[in-house]
Amino acid sequence: MKFWSKPLILAGCGLAVVWLAGMALVDHAVAQQPILVVKSQIAGEAFKNVTTSTLKVLTVDDFLAAMGVISADLGLDCADCHPGAGSDKVDWVIDPPRKRTARKMIEMVATINRTNFAGAQAVTCFTCHHGRLQPSTTIQLDTLYGPPNEEKDDIVTPGAGQPSASQILDKYLQAVGGAQRLAGLTSFIATGTSVGYGGLGGGGSFQILAKAPDLRAVIIEFKDHPERGNSTRAYNGKEAWIKSPRSLLGQYQLTGNELEGARLDALLSFPQQIKTALTNWRVGNPDNINGHDVQVLQGSGPKGLVATLYFDAQSGLLSRVVRYSRTPVGRVPTQADYSDYRDVNGIKFPFEYTFSWLDGKDSFKLSDVKANVPVDEAKFQKP
Ligand code: HEC
Ligand code: HEC
Repeated sequence: MKFWSKPLILAGCGLAVVWLAGMALVDHAVAQQPILVVKSQIAGEAFKNVTTSTLKVLTVDDFLAAMGVISADLGLDCADCHPGAGSDKVDWVIDPPRKRTARKMIEMVATINRTNFAGAQAVTCFTCHHGRLQPSTTIQLDTLYGPPNEEKDDIVTPGAGQPSASQILDKYLQAVGGAQRLAGLTSFIATGTSVGYGGLGGGGSFQILAKAPDLRAVIIEFKDHPERGNSTRAYNGKEAWIKSPRSLLGQYQLTGNELEGARLDALLSFPQQIKTALTNWRVGNPDNINGHDVQVLQGSGPKGLVATLYFDAQSGLLSRVVRYSRTPVGRVPTQADYSDYRDVNGIKFPFEYTFSWLDGKDSFKLSDVKANVPVDEAKFQKP
């Protein structure tokens, strides 16, 4: 997999400030930290040259998520369509030939889905491109006679002869501590060290704070590199923010479909809420993750949110959650992996946690979890 935004992560704040020059910079006093107010502003209005029928109506955060999907699906960096991206020389507005082709392809995909699949998103950039710029056209005989294709479907097919969704969820609730103990879990603060993708986040320390029912914040600090600033993901029960000082927007509010994903992360922090965190549960065929057999369960949420949960078949513990939010060019995957469960006040917490999204990957090693402690409400608000 190609990490398309590496140059962007590396790019300094200068880039974002230059790029945002025409946009709503709220607080000029802190203009070095690119802070953009994106109240449900749509991409077609926020940007100068966003014209495709399906992308122009997205919120700015969903639009950028769509850019992430396109990059990943074609195996490209932002700079492959926006020359200079990752430096202060970038001009996002101009239309080099590849960007023009991409715009045509975005309309083509919308037309294919509308005219052939009743508007369902059956075809995405990935359907043809599969992580490469030029789609391949002919099967290779080595592939034909090689191992079976193990690509996973976003939407799981119901498996035959599997336990029911509530059996799997009850086993999980029992495994993490049982309903009674879980009912008493109202907050926690986890601390430890994190390693970002490619070691870029090396030496980071973090706090994960959560308060029932649905407040959650992850704050990463780089004590050895204070110039990098803190990275924050926060959900206050209603609104969500991401602050990532080295990224394109610097800090922004989630106002589109990704907001539902942030809410799900918050709800799942408290296992006792798992049954109602999603609806329309369906059980897929068993699978295997890193050599462990897993039960596969999928549920749906608002605004096209889909989440697949993988439970260790033996222990019953949750080992992975992949959640997908919808964009017109394909779903945006975000993945959390959990392992090394340890006992805290009779409740099992995963002491290893990896969070992967299209723009990076953070690995957390917890050293301490304090349950039912007071948590400063300000931590869940706008960073
Ligand atoms: C395959 C080509 C391609 C790649 C790769 C790509 N983009 Fe785009 N980008 C486009 C197209 C096409 C548009 C115009 C979309 C439209 O008209 O609806 C666009 C528009 C934009 C705009 C709006 C510019 C303006 O002011 O009008 C921004 C910002 C942007 N892209 C950011 C990114 C980022 C960040 C990445 C990397 C994550 C990225 N793009 C990767 C093709 C691409
Ligand atoms: C139905 C299959 C199909 C789908 C779906 C599809 N493409 Fe393509 N795409 C192609 C083919 C085939 C080519 C090569 C065309 C050529 O070389 O003339 C191509 C070429 C391209 C190129 C130019 C590659 C280059 O060499 O610079 C871009 C950019 C591109 N596609 C973007 C996208 C984007 C973005 C999406 C999703 C919105 C998408 N495509 C969806 C089939 C597809």
